[in-house]
Amino acid sequence: MTVVAAQQREEQLTDKDFAFICQFVYQRSGIVLNESKKEMLYRRLTRVVRDRKLKSFAEYCQILKTNPEAEQDYFINAITTNLTSFFRENHHFEYLRDHEFPRLLNNNKDRRIRIWSSACSTGEEPYSIAITTLKAMSTRIRNWDVKILATDIDSNVLATAKAGIYKDKPDLVPEVYKRGYFQKGRDGNANKVRIQPQVQELITFKQLNLLHSWPMKGPFDVIFCRNVIIYFDKPTQEELFSRYYQLLKPGGLLILGHSESLGSYQQYFETIGRTIFRKPEHG
Ligand SMILES: C[S@@+](CC[C@H](N)C(=O)[O-])C[C@H]1O[C@@H](n2cnc3c(N)ncnc32)[C@H](O)[C@@H]1O
Repeated sequence: MTVVAAQQREEQLTDKDFAFICQFVYQRSGIVLNESKKEMLYRRLTRVVRDRKLKSFAEYCQILKTNPEAEQDYFINAITTNLTSFFRENHHFEYLRDHEFPRLLNNNKDRRIRIWSSACSTGEEPYSIAITTLKAMSTRIRNWDVKILATDIDSNVLATAKAGIYKDKPDLVPEVYKRGYFQKGRDGNANKVRIQPQVQELITFKQLNLLHSWPMKGPFDVIFCRNVIIYFDKPTQEELFSRYYQLLKPGGLLILGHSESLGSYQQYFETIGRTIFRKPEHG
């Protein structure tokens, strides 16, 4: 980049606007933006400004200031990082299949299982949970009350998740999982797959900001909170861990992402696998 271009860029996103946007995003989503995220923010903001047919970041900041409630959903959607994939960190699904489902099927005398995917993005995570559930329970699922709740702050990713239609890439999911759970598209949709109704039926998708109050009562047998708390600061993380703890059944699992840890909340859980934590039965 030339010096002039760099200077023009600097002028476009002033320190004041950057600070305002960081504060706006933090207050409304808990996501911490700092200098290290400036490049990413710049790219996403450029798209927003273009989308809104504006001339500058300053103009967009003015919109956020004068009409924050009307603009916040659109803006938070534009800022979130939604990277995900089917059977991402597959060892979590293997643990569910090999250890947790046998345990739940043995222990849950009420034949009820509740799982929450708490930052579900475009749906690959809850669908992976649902497929694992169907495989682990087989025909027993007919006599059990099994529900998966999938939530995210971002209404765009939730729309994709609900539709359940994905590009068919060779590495989409292990071949064995495809049979019966995905329907291959035909003709114009030959490069796409659709999640089968029996998988979709297990899941309820809802918009939920983790920072706000949670309407559901639980208790949950398993909570997935993967690759979202890394965007939050320590106080927000600890607040969330405390709330997850309360919503988990005694003996329930909390599953984090590969680079995440419980910090000081570690003392309230047993570590039972890589980023898999159990709330003690008698805690
Ligand atoms: C990187 S994705 C992780 C998706 C999935 N859990 C995984 O591990 O593959 C992070 C998700 O967290 C969501 N998110 C960010 N802040 C949130 C908040 N305050 N409440 C709920 N979801 C949030 C984003 O919209 C995004 O879809």
